[in-house]
Amino acid sequence: MKVFIAADAAEAADKAADIVENIVQSRPRPHLGMATGSTMVGVYQSLVDRCQTGGLSFAETSIYLLDEYVGLDSDHPQAFRNVIRANLADLVDLGDDALFGPDGSSSDLEAEAQRYEQLVSEACIDIQLLGIGGNGHIAFNEPGASFEGPSSVVTLSEKTRRDNARFFASIDDVPRQAITQGIGTILRARKVLLIALGTRKSRPVRDALEGPLSKETPASAIQLHQDVSVVLDREAATLLSTRRPNR
Ligand code: GLP
Repeated sequence: MKVFIAADAAEAADKAADIVENIVQSRPRPHLGMATGSTMVGVYQSLVDRCQTGGLSFAETSIYLLDEYVGLDSDHPQAFRNVIRANLADLVDLGDDALFGPDGSSSDLEAEAQRYEQLVSEACIDIQLLGIGGNGHIAFNEPGASFEGPSSVVTLSEKTRRDNARFFASIDDVPRQAITQGIGTILRARKVLLIALGTRKSRPVRDALEGPLSKETPASAIQLHQDVSVVLDREAATLLSTRRPNR
């Protein structure tokens, strides 16, 4: 595992964007697994800047969403498909029909989760971006989730709903369910890039990187992957052991 500790959020975003750019430039048809959340906004802005100045092209790239809320209207701005469009997909030269995600408004959610699992498995993700929840979740795999699990319909914890309420008018508007890639799905990506910013993430980051493998910290599952990069700002790294290499 390579851990990069940046001076601030902007440097972390650029470092993460460097890692993504390297994948996009080195594969003929890159398949990117993209996460949502405030942590990713700067990373996507950095990628958009590189594309708009002509140095980077997403023309041959496909993007696969990590997860999606259940029950939001298809034009809801907080539906993750729309978040990715607004922050990245619509701002770069991504091809038509190159953005994939689970349909959270499907009338058969279980079948939809299975369809998405199949799609992602066949796509073979070159790099999967991950944020981390305040409770250590990755994607919407909450504490207790199996490390081998496939994509599925999940119930969001109250902690996650409270954390994400800032994106909605009130907590009552935060969906109670989501379709998420499973931890097993995520671990099949060729490379995993976890990004965390701010003091709020320092405890889950420490538990994920230096704690025991534990279902109580779903992000600790990344220790099982052979090719993981972690990009942190100083605040998110404050609880890490000082002897950690690769700083
Ligand atoms: C949501 C997403 C996660 C993301 C997390 C952290 O719950 N499902 O993929 O990692 O939020 O979000 P933020 O970056 O806003 O802290």
